[in-house]
Amino acid sequence: MHAIRVSVLVGSLLLVGACRAQQPADYRPTATVKDIMDSIVDPSADALWDSVGTTISAAGTEQRAPHTDEEWANLRRRTVQLIEATNLLLIPGRHVARPGEKAEDPKIQLAPEQIEALINEDRQAWTRRAHGLHDAAVEAQKAIEARNAEALLDAGDVLDKACENCHLTYWYPRKPAAATSK
Ligand code: HEC
Repeated sequence: MHAIRVSVLVGSLLLVGACRAQQPADYRPTATVKDIMDSIVDPSADALWDSVGTTISAAGTEQRAPHTDEEWANLRRRTVQLIEATNLLLIPGRHVARPGEKAEDPKIQLAPEQIEALINEDRQAWTRRAHGLHDAAVEAQKAIEARNAEALLDAGDVLDKACENCHLTYWYPRKPAAATSK
């Protein structure tokens, strides 16, 4: 008798737990997708891209790569920002832009409300794109933890494609494909 009562109690607690897990009300998605791009995603990706590569100029050829502990540590911080930004992008109820914000180049870019409609039409597709960015950033993080500049350069290409895959779907689907390779 006692055991039955306990199991009923546990059962209803589990039920309450399950309902709460589906309830997104605990999140407060204040920033917009545009804000997250501008404040977190773009500066973090730029730091990774700028850290490795070759610049050829009149002064000669310059090879860039991280060297000091602090440089590698800073790059790893950037990957943490990128990885977790992908979860921020998935929080339900987050708006693409603030009310009244317009596309900078409406000939090429969709309006924020059009982007938001596309996202809400198929949340799974949006999730796949965000996960593409997540996985690319994890690759970059592995390269950084291995202190492998070559692998970081390759991860940078994968990262670039993850950005473009999502932007071509939601931000500027009308842009001719030939013009998009970075
Ligand atoms: C899951 C989809 C998705 C991924 C992945 C993604 N973006 Fe975006 N990004 C968007 C959308 C949607 C917009 C358009 C929002 C707006 O500006 O109205 C945008 C806009 C931007 C903007 C313009 C922000 C502004 O202030 O107008 C920049 C810069 C940007 N993204 C950079 C990046 C970079 C760099 C990456 C990859 C490292 C990336 N994004 C990955 C969806 C994505």
